[in-house]
Amino acid sequence: MQDIIRQLEEKRAAAKLGGGQARIDSQHAKGKLTARERIELLLDEGSFEEWDMFVEHRCTDFGMADQRIPGDGVVTGYGTINGRLVFVFSQDFTVFGGSLSEAHAEKICKLMDQAMKVGAPVIGLNDSGGARIQEGVASLGGYAEVFQRNMLASGVVPQISVIMGPCAGGAVYSPAITDFTFMVKDSSYMFVTGPDVVKTVTHEEVTAEELGGAVTHTSKSGVADLAMENDIEALLQVRRFVNFLPANNREKAPEWPTSDVPDRVETSLDTLVPDDPAKPYDMKELITKIADEGDFFELQPDYARNIVIGFIRLEGSTVGVVANQPLVLAGCLDINSSIKAARFVRFCDAFNIPILTLEDVPGFMPGTSQEYGGIIKHGAKLLYAYAEATVPKVTVIVRKAYGGAYDVMASKHLRGDVNFAWPSAEIAVMGPKGAVEIIFRKDIGDPDAIAARTEEYRQKFANPFIAGARGFIDDVIMPRNTRRRICRSFRMLRTKELTNPWRKHGNMPL
Ligand code: HXC
Repeated sequence: MQDIIRQLEEKRAAAKLGGGQARIDSQHAKGKLTARERIELLLDEGSFEEWDMFVEHRCTDFGMADQRIPGDGVVTGYGTINGRLVFVFSQDFTVFGGSLSEAHAEKICKLMDQAMKVGAPVIGLNDSGGARIQEGVASLGGYAEVFQRNMLASGVVPQISVIMGPCAGGAVYSPAITDFTFMVKDSSYMFVTGPDVVKTVTHEEVTAEELGGAVTHTSKSGVADLAMENDIEALLQVRRFVNFLPANNREKAPEWPTSDVPDRVETSLDTLVPDDPAKPYDMKELITKIADEGDFFELQPDYARNIVIGFIRLEGSTVGVVANQPLVLAGCLDINSSIKAARFVRFCDAFNIPILTLEDVPGFMPGTSQEYGGIIKHGAKLLYAYAEATVPKVTVIVRKAYGGAYDVMASKHLRGDVNFAWPSAEIAVMGPKGAVEIIFRKDIGDPDAIAARTEEYRQKFANPFIAGARGFIDDVIMPRNTRRRICRSFRMLRTKELTNPWRKHGNMPL
């Protein structure tokens, strides 16, 4: 027995050493933590239960028979974050560059299968050279097994990817299917083909960081949600982020105690919207002023900044916020902002998270680049997502709600449950100037007549009362009371039940 225990201890020690001290030192020298150090930071102290520490690859080609490292380049298991169960895999770059073998993939699949059975989030810490080259198609098959499970888990348990090293080739498609992707600046990158292939094929010279670094993917491509300064910040932010999410699609997000009272009055909101309707203001000010303790977890802050998405809590419960941002492109909806918001709305709807929409949108963005890029199809994604969503939906029209964008942004007609307007709301088919130039085209040479007509149109439509008269707006509320009114609305909606007709799945305009 003593011998067996000693053997076990030796095996554990070997597994914990991964690819050896020299490679661990090299990992540290790059400013990166090891796979196990990352798990320690991510999970509650002492909560990690590791599985499959003794799994080894089965490859015998290219001298691999003599190179077996227990665990095979990925640490897997489960633990808790603030007492709540999560499953985690953490790729170990010190073992064959974290590359994915058949056995490595089986470990990931095993924990994903278990996470699905018990209904808990899966967090993947990615740091890998991609498919294990020595294994050929066996490792490609392993990737596809993971992709298949990513799809099956989508909308069932939250899936979060943290990219903390290389993630290249087909390997990028697993994070792409997961719900949220965080990246670490300067030490992580994602691309389908690397700088060398790019140079050969397109003759472009680009560094790995420029091609697929954290800044690129959080500002240019929208592939990732957040860029973090280092491993520690990334893992601590994942801990904070998980607090907003439910464990699975059958549960509600956890309620956190708050001392922030729901009827807190914010008088400063009465002057948030400038008198001049052409002047911008920062919509994030409204979001933080209505949120419990001003806590707003924003996602994709540097991508499609004309729309703002993220989570707040109201009376301790998670609410997803979608808000037009008048500071950027006057808050117009364009291709990127429609896609950004649509995916977020679908996440909220899949996971029982109520949606608050704060609206100030002059319309869809005009122009050839938008039309050629398919704004019709992409704008329809947001429309589809809102129309499909059955979770509680509360909308506040802060200022502009013009044209198709009025319809799209969780209007009453798309089953908005409670639709409020501020007194500053302007709800019409289009802005006064554009409208008058069309319906009074014959007067266009007469500036006085046009000015008079514009003023008449403004008086008539640039207000919330026409929509209010039809019941499209449930009430016109004082800005200072916004928090109280939406808290009450969401409280009333807690028992909301609504289901869409049975179907295999809809066919959203992809
Ligand atoms: C096996 C690998 C490996 C891989 C790295 N290693 N990638 N072993 N299969 N894919 C090993 C290296 O041999 C080395 O072993 C150790 O990991 C560290 O690698 P280095 O190259 O020394 O590290 P670094 O200089 O930091 O470079 C990291 C890297 C580079 C940029 C990731 O290793 C690299 O380019 N690797 C190959 C990437 C690749 O082409 N993968 C296949 C992509 S296709 P030693 O023993 O020396 O420490 C793909 C298809 C998926 O993934 C398809 C799914 C549909």
